[in-house]
Amino acid sequence: MEISRGLWSSRLGFVLAAAGSAIGLGNIWRFPYSVGTGGGGAYVFVYLICVVAISVPVLFAELAIGRATERNPVGAFKALVPGRLWRLVGGLGVLTGFGILAFYSVIAGWTVGYLWMALTRRLDEAVDAASSGAIFGGLIGDAGPALLLTAIFLAVTALVVRGGVSKGIERATSVLMPALFVLLLVLVVRSVTLPGAHEGLAFLFRPDFSALTPTVVMSALGQALFSLSLGMGTMITYGSYFPKDQSLPAAGATVAGFDTVIALLAGLLIFPALFAAGVQPNHGPGLVFVVLPTIFAQMPLGGLFAVLFYLLLGIAALTSTISLLEVVVAYFVDERGWRRGPAAVGIAAACFLLAAPSALSQGAVPSLGNVFGMDFLTLQNAIFGNYALSIGALMICVFVGWKWGIRPALNSIEEGGGRLLGRRALAFLVRYVCPVAIAIVLGFIIITSVITGEPPF
Ligand code: TRP
Repeated sequence: MEISRGLWSSRLGFVLAAAGSAIGLGNIWRFPYSVGTGGGGAYVFVYLICVVAISVPVLFAELAIGRATERNPVGAFKALVPGRLWRLVGGLGVLTGFGILAFYSVIAGWTVGYLWMALTRRLDEAVDAASSGAIFGGLIGDAGPALLLTAIFLAVTALVVRGGVSKGIERATSVLMPALFVLLLVLVVRSVTLPGAHEGLAFLFRPDFSALTPTVVMSALGQALFSLSLGMGTMITYGSYFPKDQSLPAAGATVAGFDTVIALLAGLLIFPALFAAGVQPNHGPGLVFVVLPTIFAQMPLGGLFAVLFYLLLGIAALTSTISLLEVVVAYFVDERGWRRGPAAVGIAAACFLLAAPSALSQGAVPSLGNVFGMDFLTLQNAIFGNYALSIGALMICVFVGWKWGIRPALNSIEEGGGRLLGRRALAFLVRYVCPVAIAIVLGFIIITSVITGEPPF
């Protein structure tokens, strides 16, 4: 008996949900700070190349697998080829989704905390780096709020996923994504019209290639996978709900385009504001939580813009956590016969147990602040958000390029009409460029770690 798994009700529904998954903290938090530490325009340039040459092929490879099988990552590989190996790749994906969800919910929780502090005008006190840093440290280093905010975020995520594919995920994202877009545009207009904004634009778009190092290239590649939600089967799962009679090629390309545009817009929001305030861009992960509040605090109507910004960040994060939980839920529903409702709630609760040490690693419990030389959250980010994704993306390309086959993959993408432009180029990228490029990057990390004796994170 075929149990109905749910489908997107329309192509637009898919585009909004998949773009919602892709657009997240990765675009608005991680991309700007990576640009800031990676030297600006040169990083953006390498990032864009990675998106076109690596992310887009992996995206279509995942969508093809999902659509052909109508299954979660584990079931999808099982349906296409016999044997344990590939099922393990799917299993790694489900596990990675669970792991990313755990640390991502912690940071997502901070956005809720910041929204609250912006609404209650507490953020107005972030007048300089020291006071802003103290506010940030106070929020993330206090066990109560850190755990509570994470729990709230996971609970809301579970509530949406419980509602199902079209009645939960699609309905939520079709309201949240337009809201996100409007908020972002308002903030970009505010930022680029600040006096002195042009310096920020130059930093973002005028590449200085002397800033490029192998580490910068690696971070751009990792970011290009993370930002499009690739390497663990999110797009396999979302592709599995794509109606067979609708055309997929343009829809997939739109998702990639949206994600890239939003990342660039986030850059347009943040760098002009930074430069206008005379602040250096290389602040690392604290950029949007420590540096931006000081700018809001000094800007006319800054309190209002702060509310809008953290609302934007929270919405972006929510549509991403939804997709992470959905992958794990889809596995338990398809493969283990669980009902969706209990699966969503139970998995979110279990995820909280893994999220808790991350939430507590930012000052509340000192021993969690130093695991392999870094705090537990950063460690989880490195393991799940970088390595596991790169390995997953590599295996997915090898699978589609060499095991399952390019032809059935292309057929699956073009089933339902629409022609994929550049089929030859795509085949070449999936078979050769992506696996080789990702393998080089991974190899480089391992060799550096052996030579320097530092852990490879
Ligand atoms: N892409 C999202 C972001 O940019 C995060 C995300 C959601 C993700 N699902 C994913 C990352 C799956 C990697 C894999 O914030």
